[in-house]
Amino acid sequence: MANETKNDLFSKCFNYEESKKVQAAGLYCFFRPIEETTGGNVVTHGKKRVMIGSNNYLGLTHDKRVIEAAKHAIDRFGTGFTGSRFLNGNSVLHEELEEKLARFTGKEAALVFATGFQSNQGALAALMGKNDVIFSDQENHASIIEGTRTAAGKTIVFRHNDMEDLERKLKEHRDQFEGALIVADGVFSMSGDILNWPAVHALAKKYNCRTYIDDAHALGVLGPMGQGTEFHFNMPNTADIVMGTFSKSFASVGGYVAGSKDVINYIKHHARHFMFTAAMPPSAAATVLECLRIVQEEPKHLENLRKNAAKMSTELTRMGYYTLGSQTPIIPLLVGDDMMALAFSQKLYENGVFATPVVRPAVPEGCALIRTSYMASHTEADLDYSLTVLEKLGKAFGILGNPERKAAMDALAEKHFGKRGSQKAAGNVSAMFA
Ligand SMILES: Cc1ncc(COP(=O)(O)O)c(C=O)c1O
Repeated sequence: MANETKNDLFSKCFNYEESKKVQAAGLYCFFRPIEETTGGNVVTHGKKRVMIGSNNYLGLTHDKRVIEAAKHAIDRFGTGFTGSRFLNGNSVLHEELEEKLARFTGKEAALVFATGFQSNQGALAALMGKNDVIFSDQENHASIIEGTRTAAGKTIVFRHNDMEDLERKLKEHRDQFEGALIVADGVFSMSGDILNWPAVHALAKKYNCRTYIDDAHALGVLGPMGQGTEFHFNMPNTADIVMGTFSKSFASVGGYVAGSKDVINYIKHHARHFMFTAAMPPSAAATVLECLRIVQEEPKHLENLRKNAAKMSTELTRMGYYTLGSQTPIIPLLVGDDMMALAFSQKLYENGVFATPVVRPAVPEGCALIRTSYMASHTEADLDYSLTVLEKLGKAFGILGNPERKAAMDALAEKHFGKRGSQKAAGNVSAMFA
């Protein structure tokens, strides 16, 4: 690089080749610019494609009432609050939203942040002191990992949803610290796995820990009305803190934490990611308020989501895909190595289906996934079309109908994903109805 100097901070940038190599191979499936969207379908590079890679679970981004609510808020408040809620950007919309979210999630109080990422980072950093400890699931979202990095104190990672490992670590380390918090996603974002909340809750009681569930993918999805993980297990208000985002089922952007009044008030006055960043804009707050009304008054959206997810889980499993036992609308497909996942995504795209790969370091070597996810607003035709393409390409790539490869994949999947890797653990989406 012409202008590189000795000990140059930017050397790593000049030498960064990975993305360029994937681009040169024609396999770069990131940052695809969306030209138009109806939610279930998108137009990219001039062509309409079925979107099975989004988090728009309830399909509310295009609901006319939601759009009207957002427009109305812009008419009333303008396009932004141009400041932090702490100082000049707080509004009646934020406060109404907090009150309604607290009621919906069964907590005393809630606090709305500008993004879900900031909610996790801000709340964890505010709560943890230097003598405290976080026990964090290995598959937790990047925002929790960043939160544990920003927070004072120690973080101990336990194997994904492995309660024996969690207990082992609690036994070994709990007494060395003052406060302790167990943090986990309610629905894990890449695998669609549901947290074993009853077991985590019991261990937290036994070892005197507080608990924190990230319900980003459970809000609007799990529980009778989509209230989240605690409600899925019929254990309302058993977690100390529940966090959620509006960037998925609630069709917008923003996030929150909910818990007891004192804890929320403490976070409100200590979380720098809340106090020193601009407020969620009016259109977003009004969007979420309208989504919250719709999910409580119209069960058909959640029913459709469950019907669509159940259909896809049944069909993909029947074809022979490994879905890691997913019981949610996130249905991962185990395909093999990273290049295979990139090539598979690219072929899906060329065939009119938009889904994204999950590669190292998010998954172990040789265990790359295609993360597929489904919406209430997908039509039968959208789903059938996606299934036809997935079956055709699965066979063309030797992922399906290849006994030799199947034996190798069985071993790999079992090794890295344990019981979830087995095809016997194939998705039972009907468990969502429990
Ligand atoms: C589990 C989980 N938590 C937190 C976040 C961050 O939320 P947001 O994208 O709304 O900032 C995400 C987003 O992908 C997520 O999947």
